[in-house]
Amino acid sequence: MKVIGISGSPTEDSNTDTLIKAIVDATGADNEFVKLSDIEVGPCIACMKCVYTNECVLNDDFKWLSKKVMDADAIVIGSPTYYGAASAFTKAFIERLYSKRHVKLQAGGKLVATVALGIAAESMVSEWMGNALRAGGMEIVGSMTAKGTPCCFVCGVGESCHYPVWNAYSKEMTGMDLGIEAAYEGYLELLPDNKPYEHGSAKILKEYRSVKDEPDVMAEAERIGKLIREKLQSV
Ligand SMILES: Cc1cc2nc3c(=O)[nH]c(=O)nc-3n(C[C@H](O)[C@H](O)[C@H](O)COP(=O)(O)O)c2cc1C
Repeated sequence: MKVIGISGSPTEDSNTDTLIKAIVDATGADNEFVKLSDIEVGPCIACMKCVYTNECVLNDDFKWLSKKVMDADAIVIGSPTYYGAASAFTKAFIERLYSKRHVKLQAGGKLVATVALGIAAESMVSEWMGNALRAGGMEIVGSMTAKGTPCCFVCGVGESCHYPVWNAYSKEMTGMDLGIEAAYEGYLELLPDNKPYEHGSAKILKEYRSVKDEPDVMAEAERIGKLIREKLQSV
């Protein structure tokens, strides 16, 4: 059994990486981990040359990566949420899987699990990844989301910046309750004079939110990994 973990997070030792690795480890299978930001996988250029061959003609690291993906019994793909969407690394990789879905559905039936990290809109990324991979004929065994560290916690000026993520995704700005305050209770205290996009004022109570400190989140990763193992063993 072979499982490949693919991370679209460019951050070193990121929460996305941690959850992908936890799922992969729980499968107990031979495995490999690839960080897309360490290699070159550009976007699809819609040349359609892959239509009859199921091979992408672009000359970058997707050439060997796609072989590993096709060779794996299951893949675990994770992405952080950037502007309400998957990271560009993740998006480019998934676009390139287009080459595997014509005439012959080459990745048909392949087991996949997805991981999406974010502050407010990670469920949109999870949904998008699921739909895109399902369109390629893959079977989504599990998809999990988790709250990560807002970059504004670590950038240095988040506490006084007028435009941090918690203001950008605030009720005042979006007209929706995206759950920032609830999700970051114990991590962030918005001060009374904070006015989104006018005056930033907050206190960061814990600088880093690590999924390793969240037993329920880690348990969900393990559950998905075990589910992949069971599915692979039953084939
Ligand atoms: C360019 C950029 C855009 C971002 N946009 C969003 C966003 O739209 N929604 C959100 O929930 N988080 C957003 N974030 C925050 C990241 O999703 C968050 O920091 C996440 O925990 C990163 O995961 P990682 O550390 O595993 O890479 C953004 C971060 C960056 C760098």
